[in-house]
Amino acid sequence: MSITLTWLGHGTQLLDVSGYKLLVDPFLADNPAAAAKPEAMQPDYILISHGHFDHISDAVEIARRTGATVISNFEIATWCSNQGLSAHGQHLGGGHQFPFGYLKLTLALHGSALPDGSYGGNPAGFLLTAEGKKIYLACDTGLFGDMQLIGDEGLDLAVLPIGDNFTMGPADALRAVRFLRPKTVIPVHYNTWELIAQDAEAWARQVEAETRSSVRVLKPGESFSL
Ligand code: NI
Ligand code: MN
Repeated sequence: MSITLTWLGHGTQLLDVSGYKLLVDPFLADNPAAAAKPEAMQPDYILISHGHFDHISDAVEIARRTGATVISNFEIATWCSNQGLSAHGQHLGGGHQFPFGYLKLTLALHGSALPDGSYGGNPAGFLLTAEGKKIYLACDTGLFGDMQLIGDEGLDLAVLPIGDNFTMGPADALRAVRFLRPKTVIPVHYNTWELIAQDAEAWARQVEAETRSSVRVLKPGESFSL
């Protein structure tokens, strides 16, 4: 079995793991760079890293239509279950064994207010252990030194934001790669809008020149299997 990650634009990712579909941070209908429509999504689980609209805007509709279980921090999971959705709450540093693998919530330096102004708890990233592989989805975050601890887990893949302004930019994302030491890194959360336009190919060349990680630059809709 292999794990396939498809980048759908911005922070939205679809993971295919052991026959389960995990949709991460669904932002499709209002995303100018989206490679799919929310109506086409048939996930088993929806992972939400934090409450900002560009990570959650399609989550409620997709979860309601498909019955997918939302996995997020306790506050966002409660916000979802109060709307009648199936939801599983965790918190930073806590992992849980799901049918698709072991999923841990990791630290992220960011905000998390929900679109209606509700308190969205602390933002998170995700560390997935499945099929003998470790995948770290940093989601929206600035650089932080404890990425070294996540790197100590031995990462096969890290998905990092490089857009700057709202998250790490290219320079800090390069420092993150040094901390995380993944075999492969995929950049996301850029080129959605002019404000976060970046040259991902140039970033990839620099990362590959200065670290031992290889970079896969995907176009929205493209996949990477490991
Ligand atoms: Ni955000
Ligand atoms: Mn964002």
